[in-house]
Amino acid sequence: MNILSIETSCDDTGIAILEVIENGNDKIPTFSVMANKIASQIKVHQKYGGVFPMMAKREHQKNIVPTFVDALGEAKLLDAKPYAIDPEKLKTLKTILEREPELAKKLIPFLKKYSKPDARPERSRRIDYIAVTNGPGLEPCLWVGVNFARALSYFWDIPLIPINHIEGHILVNYLQNKAVIPNLIGDPELSSRSLDSRFRGNDNVKFPAIALVVSGGHTQLVLVEGVGKYKILGETRDDAAGECFDKAAKILGLGYPGGPIISKLALQATSYKLQATLPRPMLHTKDYDFSFSGLKTAILYSHQKQPKKIQKNKDYICAMCAEIQQAIIDVLLKKTFKAVVDFNARTIILGGGVSANSELRRQFNLQATNYNLQAIFPEPVLSTDNGLMIGVAGYYNKDKIINWKYLEADSNLRIGE
Ligand code: KG4
Ligand code: ZN
Repeated sequence: MNILSIETSCDDTGIAILEVIENGNDKIPTFSVMANKIASQIKVHQKYGGVFPMMAKREHQKNIVPTFVDALGEAKLLDAKPYAIDPEKLKTLKTILEREPELAKKLIPFLKKYSKPDARPERSRRIDYIAVTNGPGLEPCLWVGVNFARALSYFWDIPLIPINHIEGHILVNYLQNKAVIPNLIGDPELSSRSLDSRFRGNDNVKFPAIALVVSGGHTQLVLVEGVGKYKILGETRDDAAGECFDKAAKILGLGYPGGPIISKLALQATSYKLQATLPRPMLHTKDYDFSFSGLKTAILYSHQKQPKKIQKNKDYICAMCAEIQQAIIDVLLKKTFKAVVDFNARTIILGGGVSANSELRRQFNLQATNYNLQAIFPEPVLSTDNGLMIGVAGYYNKDKIINWKYLEADSNLRIGE
């Protein structure tokens, strides 16, 4: 089966097309990535040092159809065949896209120009499901993806699956092991696709698992008892960990997004001694919650106290970056391993933009080895927001189809209790 997946919860417009091959008695499917396209808005938000929801919404509306065309082209699913839309259907389409005028301007001409990708009967050239993030995230942004998916589901009559963004960050870890599977018989296009794009669904994940999802918008610790069985153990009470990286970088005058910059500069830290260490908020509390806004304030005060000359000193900046990164890692590590012990977890799953951090990976791996278990991370490009993670989650939620009429975005959607 082929799944088209759509992600617009924050500032990345992600569209992927994923082929899932179920291997008979073996319950582990093979995933083959037909396309995974992302239109990033970093350049737009860079000058403000953060994401402005209405600006991000406008960018999603502008980028989603070109990204979709790009993905269909790569998956060899783009079928140019002019199509006269019946006036009744056009009216419904316009109603669905009422709140997305810029998107309507691009999507309606697209639907007149290209036909539904099922013109040929072969298995590999259809779209069987549409999976879309409907929360949590920035509400105006979520609606662009949701309404785009509703319009396609209605117009092309393809079942629609709503996906929780956090579940996407967790389940993308099922794309771990490169799979060498026999070429799909007699299909030259599929045979030519890189073997690198094929994954055997992960059989490394052993339950119960503890998942830590850390990004610019979320910091959640989740008990995973199986696919679809989640319990939120703790979360941030204020800023997310990625937000702390971003705000710290802004304070130090380093640019946006802060995580990758701080991570790079931390690697260059010398023996420069900071006058004081930063706090590790909530490190010793008995719950699984986090708090990062106090850390951000401490970074601000500590930086402001420095003479102007030191504030610009490269060695000082790198030392601050290393300390900020370690303060964040320390609390993430401590709370995650507390949960691991309390729930007898057998695997640690990481996801979200912050899990791309190489020092965080190194320290989680080290500690996991000490506990005799495995920490699993997505490839760095799949740690940050992307369409593919929604496709994988779509496969595991294919029994949760919803009629396009009833799908809504929910900025506070929860993955569990
Ligand atoms: O998952 P994501 O793409 O979007 C959200 O759902 O928020 O995460 C983006 C966040 C940003 O805050 C960014 O600074 C952070 O992930 N990030 C990193 C790294 N790469 C991205 N943080 C620390 N180290 C990194 N290497
Ligand atoms: Zn995310």
